[in-house]
Formats: sequence, structure tokens, C-alpha cells
Amino acid sequence: MELLEKRIVKDGKVVDRDILKVDSFLNHQIDVELLSLLAEEFYNLYKESNINKVLTIEASGIAVAAFTAKLFGVPLVFAKKSKSANISENVYSADVHSFTHGNTNKVIVSKEFLNSCDKVLVIDDFLANGQALIGLKEIVDKAGAEFIGAGIVVEKGFQPGGKMLRDNGMRIESLAIVKSMDPENGIVFEH
Ligand code: G4P
Repeated sequence: MELLEKRIVKDGKVVDRDILKVDSFLNHQIDVELLSLLAEEFYNLYKESNINKVLTIEASGIAVAAFTAKLFGVPLVFAKKSKSANISENVYSADVHSFTHGNTNKVIVSKEFLNSCDKVLVIDDFLANGQALIGLKEIVDKAGAEFIGAGIVVEKGFQPGGKMLRDNGMRIESLAIVKSMDPENGIVFEH
């Protein structure tokens, strides 16, 4: 998506060759006009799929997922990172390891909000190693719901998540795919 790529080039900051900071419009300060346009793209990509629920993971996926859910006219559910090691029987859970943060979170979704009638679109801000999506897919599977696909704002194509998930048959639509980036030479996108 050209508009997004331009914005990443203008306002994104490459940190240490593998972290792209987009705090000024995506995951700290939020440009709501831009996010509503990103949501329109997700809507156009998945409008034939009859989804009835959007799923994301806290925290920074929530904003764009909320705009997307509004366009589809469906509820947004976000998986919560649980602080407790004791998981109640009223939730579906999965372990999500973050290579970026170097930690593992148990993420949970209440059984009340996901069930076998659901056709689920997963939305997230970043796709790097794919661990968040694997965890969310595990939760969808545990609920007996149908995983329709994922919409990602920024995929780091030089990290393995996107290829691994697509090779596993998952539909992954990314609005910008960064092929390479470094602080001196800037950002190159994949088309
Ligand atoms: P993965 O889910 O694809 O395996 O990615 P990874 O574990 O490496 O990253 C997990 C967290 O790091 C996610 O946030 C993700 O949004 C964020 N992240 C990954 N790469 C980048 C990047 O280049 N720039 C920025 N700004 N964030 C990145 P999270 O753990 O879900 O936390 P939150 O920030 O949403 O609360």
C-alpha cells in the first residue's frame, strides 16, 4: 500500500537493522485517519469471506483491529496477556514467545467470546517471527472456530514468520512488506 510505505519512509525509524519504530503513527501516537484507511484495505481484501469476528492481541494491534471490525460490523476480541500462571477453565490459552522482547506471554481469550460458530479474521500491527499469529491460531483452533486469514500492517519480510505461515497454508495479507532496512541505506519494500 503506497500511502503506508510513504509514511513508513517519512516517519519510521530503523533501530539496529531489525526494529522499525513507528511510534509516531501506529503504536504509540496513533494517526486515526491513516488507520481507518488501513482498515479499508483489510475490508476490501476480506469482504467476500463472511467473517463474523476480528481477533487481535493486546496492545498495539487493538487500534487498527477496532477500525477494521467497525467496517465489517462485527465485534473485536483481543487476546489478553495473562499475568497469572494459573489459567482458569473459562479461557482458551496459548504461549506466545516474543523474540523482539525476549519473553514469553501466556495469552488468553474468554470462552464466552469465541466459539465454533465464529469465522475469524486476525489483525495485527507487526509480523516478524510469526509467534503471535501462531498463538492466536492455536486459540481459534481450540475454540473450534474457523481461521479465515490475517491482516498485517507491517511485515518484516526478512524475518521468517510470513513465509512459515504461508507455507502452512494460512492466508496472510500484509499492507507493507519490508524487504530490508538499515539506518544508513533506509527501507526497501517487497512488491
Ligand atoms: P512475532 O509475533 O511475529 O513472532 O514477533 P516478535 O515476537 O518478534 O514481536 C513481538 C512484539 O514485538 C509484538 O508486540 C510486535 O508488534 C513487536 N514488534 C516486532 N517487530 C517490531 C518492529 O520492528 N517494530 C515495532 N515497533 N514493534 C515490533 P507485542 O509483544 O504484541 O507487544 P505490544 O507492543 O503490541 O504491546
